[in-house]
Formats: sequence, structure tokens, C-alpha cells
Amino acid sequence: MKRDPIDIFDEWADLDKDFGMEKNHKSSVKGMLEYVLDKKTPYSFIDAGCGNGWVVRSVERNFLCKEAMGVDGSKKMVDKAKKLDPSGSYVCADLMSWLPHKKVDIVHSMEVFYYLENPKKVIQQIFDLWLKKNGRLILGIDFYFENKISHGWPDSCGISKMKLFSEKKWVSFFNTAGFHSIKAWRIGKLKDWSGTLVICGIK
Ligand SMILES: C[S@@+](CC[C@H](N)C(=O)[O-])C[C@H]1O[C@@H](n2cnc3c(N)ncnc32)[C@H](O)[C@@H]1O
Repeated sequence: MKRDPIDIFDEWADLDKDFGMEKNHKSSVKGMLEYVLDKKTPYSFIDAGCGNGWVVRSVERNFLCKEAMGVDGSKKMVDKAKKLDPSGSYVCADLMSWLPHKKVDIVHSMEVFYYLENPKKVIQQIFDLWLKKNGRLILGIDFYFENKISHGWPDSCGISKMKLFSEKKWVSFFNTAGFHSIKAWRIGKLKDWSGTLVICGIK
């Protein structure tokens, strides 16, 4: 029987599998951050579905970062993030309903959005209520239609709720929300691996 993603990620935090995710996602996230941070302009930053908080800690080290915070639905992931970075800002909440106290310049998310009940709605909320004008949303996704090898993950990992959309569909969510200058590309393509699908748009 398949289980809720949050239960699985609580378990993964106990098993230290978050460090494996960090290792596996690192090169895609590096490419995403290089694209979205322009090296001149100060910024505030939210990592949506931050896991153990490794992206927040990395971004915080950049002198242009004014504020960075992480949000995750798994309490055990958030407890771990706080333990690794006691002065950091981490919140345990469901991305379907959580809203920031103030709007930010950049919302980043790696390997999270297909677990959400309604990713389209959250992308709209990020546009309306999370981002400042000219703010950017950047998503990285490995589970998507064109990446055929990923189709078996809900069964092999025993995780429910995983939504398999095409690149076109993900881009349409950005378009409908109102983003402009939308760009989609792949990072780390190999023979049987279509790479991380990255989508970025500007408010
Ligand atoms: C594959 S992990 C990726 C974690 C992190 N971004 C990384 O790259 O290491 C997916 C994360 O999304 C979180 N997540 C899944 N559904 C969520 C939801 N509805 N609200 C908040 N977080 C959620 C999980 O708890 C988990 O930490």
C-alpha cells in the first residue's frame, strides 16, 4: 500500500536519507541557483520543501542574501534543519496553505511540487502572495512525463499523491498564474535520464 509523502519523508529523516537527497540534487540545484541569483542584486529567499535545509544554509552564506528561510511539511526534516542550523529560519507547514509574512524576491524548490495536492494552485499562490514584483519562482522536477525512467517511482518508493505531468503542463501552470519570461530546460541529461526539468518565471 502506498503511503503519504510526509510520512515517508519523516521516515527518511530518521534514516538520514536526506543527506543522499542533498548529494543527488546538488548539481541540479547548483545550476538553478546560478541561473536565478544574478551576483549583483541583494535578495530574500524561500526554499519550498526544504528537506534538511541544505539549500537555505548554502544560500545564507552568500553576502547578497538578506534573508533565507525553508518550509517543509515533514516535522522531522524541519527538526533536523534546526539542529544543523540553530540560528536559521525553518517552518513546518503544508505548502498548500502556508503563506509568508512578507513577500520575497526568490522562491526556489527542488523535487517537491509533484507531491502537492494541487501544484497549480500553489504556483498561483506563490505568484499572488509570496513574490514581490519582479520576483522569481524556480522549480526543479525529476518526476515528469518525458523522464520515462521516473514513472515507476510511486510504486518503487511506495509513495501516494505523486502527480505525473508533462513539461508543457508544468509550463502552463506558470503561464496561467501570470508569470512572464518563462523558461524551461533540463539539467544533467544522460542516456536514459531526461535530466532535472527546471522551470523559471518572473512576476
Ligand atoms: C524529495 S524531498 C526534497 C527535499 C529538498 N528540496 C532536497 O532537495 O533535498 C521532498 C520534500 O518535500 C516535502 N513535502 C512534500 N509534500 C509537502 C507539502 N505538502 N508541504 C510541505 N512540504 C512537502 C517533503 O517533506 C520532503 O522534505
